[in-house]
Amino acid sequence: MNQSPENFDQPDPCAELTELAGSLAHEIKNPLSVIRLNVELLEEDLQEIASPASRRALKKISTVKRQCTRLEHLLDDFMQFSRLRRLTLKPGDLNDQIEQVLDFYGPQATQQNVEIVRYLDADLPGIMLDSRTLQAALLNLVKNALEAMPDGGRLEIRTRVTLKGVALDLIDSGCGMDDTTLLHMFENFFSSKSNGTGLGLPTAKKIIEAHGGLIDVQSALDRGTKFSLHFPTPRRI
Ligand SMILES: Nc1ncnc2c1ncn2[C@@H]1O[C@H](COP(=O)(O)OP(=O)(O)OP(=O)(O)O)[C@@H](O)[C@H]1O
Ligand SMILES: [Mg+2]
Repeated sequence: MNQSPENFDQPDPCAELTELAGSLAHEIKNPLSVIRLNVELLEEDLQEIASPASRRALKKISTVKRQCTRLEHLLDDFMQFSRLRRLTLKPGDLNDQIEQVLDFYGPQATQQNVEIVRYLDADLPGIMLDSRTLQAALLNLVKNALEAMPDGGRLEIRTRVTLKGVALDLIDSGCGMDDTTLLHMFENFFSSKSNGTGLGLPTAKKIIEAHGGLIDVQSALDRGTKFSLHFPTPRRI
């Protein structure tokens, strides 16, 4: 493995296993995409036949497709997990990173009536970051916030200078968390959602920590949730 200081080398006793799980996830993705493709072709064929039997078959196909999507998400999350060992940190701007993620989720937010309010500090100092990986963490957090506000709400995004570096706050007016969720949210596979894999937050936490940062949460049931991400500025890394 490349030992250059830019490469993040995590002191993880399960590193080999994590990497193996990542490769396995990657291998499973190929046959899974063949399954999806064939199921979609089958769906197209059946759509041309108007009979009760084909309608029943189409229903079953839709279940298979839903489960394929679920597996695809699970595998993507696993691959993100294992990629953490190959982080390459470069100087970058936290404002840019969150802007890109918010632009991505903009249409969905508008559709579900969520107002996104940005208070980004224009003079924010740069940090050391791996753009693709950090954005994956931010995507998970914004996705969770939107999922917590299915009937609309407000998502405030703030960046600010702190004593030790910079911080990013994501404050949603969503459903908030109960005590059990607050206690377990960072555990792998913990999810309160019927279709959640429960890898979003643990992955985000690992990514933030791999950037020398910290993630902090405050939440009140039925009121909302605030995630604060703290990053050191370069001279402190
Ligand atoms: N912004 C939030 N508001 C309310 N609850 C949240 C928020 N973010 C996370 N949670 C809670 O934490 C749990 C774990 O989140 P995590 O992102 O790890 O998994 P998930 O969202 O359930 O599934 P996945 O992200 O893998 O699709 C969620 O199921 C939810 O209960
Ligand atoms: Mg999630």
